[in-house]
Amino acid sequence: MNILVTGGAGYIGSHAIRQLLEAGHFPVVLDNLSYGHRNTIPNNVPFYHVDLKETDRIAEILREHHIEAVMHFAALISVGESVQKPLLYYRNNTAGAVSLLEAMERVGVKRFVFSSTAATYGEPEEMPIVETTKQQPINPYGRSKWFVEQILRDIAATDPKFGFAAFRYFNVAGASEDGTIGEDHQPETHLIPLVLFAAMGKRNNITVFGTDYPTSDGTCVRDYVHVNDLVTAHVLAVEALSDGDARFYNLGIGYGYSVREILDTAKKVTGKEIPTVFGLRREGDPAQLFANSDKVQKELGWQPQHTDIDEVIASAWHWHSTHPNGYAVS
Ligand code: UFG
Repeated sequence: MNILVTGGAGYIGSHAIRQLLEAGHFPVVLDNLSYGHRNTIPNNVPFYHVDLKETDRIAEILREHHIEAVMHFAALISVGESVQKPLLYYRNNTAGAVSLLEAMERVGVKRFVFSSTAATYGEPEEMPIVETTKQQPINPYGRSKWFVEQILRDIAATDPKFGFAAFRYFNVAGASEDGTIGEDHQPETHLIPLVLFAAMGKRNNITVFGTDYPTSDGTCVRDYVHVNDLVTAHVLAVEALSDGDARFYNLGIGYGYSVREILDTAKKVTGKEIPTVFGLRREGDPAQLFANSDKVQKELGWQPQHTDIDEVIASAWHWHSTHPNGYAVS
């Protein structure tokens, strides 16, 4: 299948490109390179340095490559920044998706796989979270994605030929098994890379945000899903979608690890000391978030392969320790 991958030069998108090629598909990448890395993209994959707001240009690309489906990864992802700059998030994540969907409508592309987020649930009323758990996002990032979910429902309601899947991601982690691509966010805010930077001496320490949560050891619990498992669900979805589909799936492994457990595992995996500071809670962090992912397992046959946190952290360590400056040429 000819598939347009927006954000294909980013962390998750770059892993998606690899899997799509392995599965015999023909990905085409669109990325504005504001955060993505051009050198993650194999030479045989067409690449367009284009922003989501360029509707006309996107329509041309869709037409030129006879695109049959779109995987939409391109987005801003920082919760804290979204609180400071809500319009930036609504422009990029919500208006950006609208522009892309308009281009698709113009050209008649009817398949869409969307990166949504567990942040659309806000502080959920039940745990584990099922797809029917009430969505009440508590920050602009979560709302920017929630709006797109509603827009997709509206399109599906009027166009019986349109079919989409929206995945609500939990905490994406790890790197490719061969160690050639991995996470390189500037700035980095996610726990696992920051812990590994502390292990490498790239930063002085890691601060644990809160030790007084109502969890077994007082630190927050999150559901860490390996990036390649996450991407596999997208490949399964794009191959399964048919007319009229409006599918929503949680993507997590179904149980969580605490921040302390992540630190202990990272220490074991790296064999290094990890200087740790115990700090205050970070605003907006729920105590626990983990998915019930029965639906995606049942409907798409998804089975995460990397559910052992040692393995997830080991793959991230392989990447970071061999690429201490990420994709930058050092
Ligand atoms: N944490 C620390 N210290 C740090 C960084 C994080 O203790 O320096 C803690 C956080 O408090 C949290 C856990 O580690 O409990 C994981 O934090 P991350 O920042 O790695 O991830 P989040 O759970 O905050 O966010 C993730 C995604 C978001 C998404 C959210 C959905 O990165 O995009 O899940 O709830 F919005």
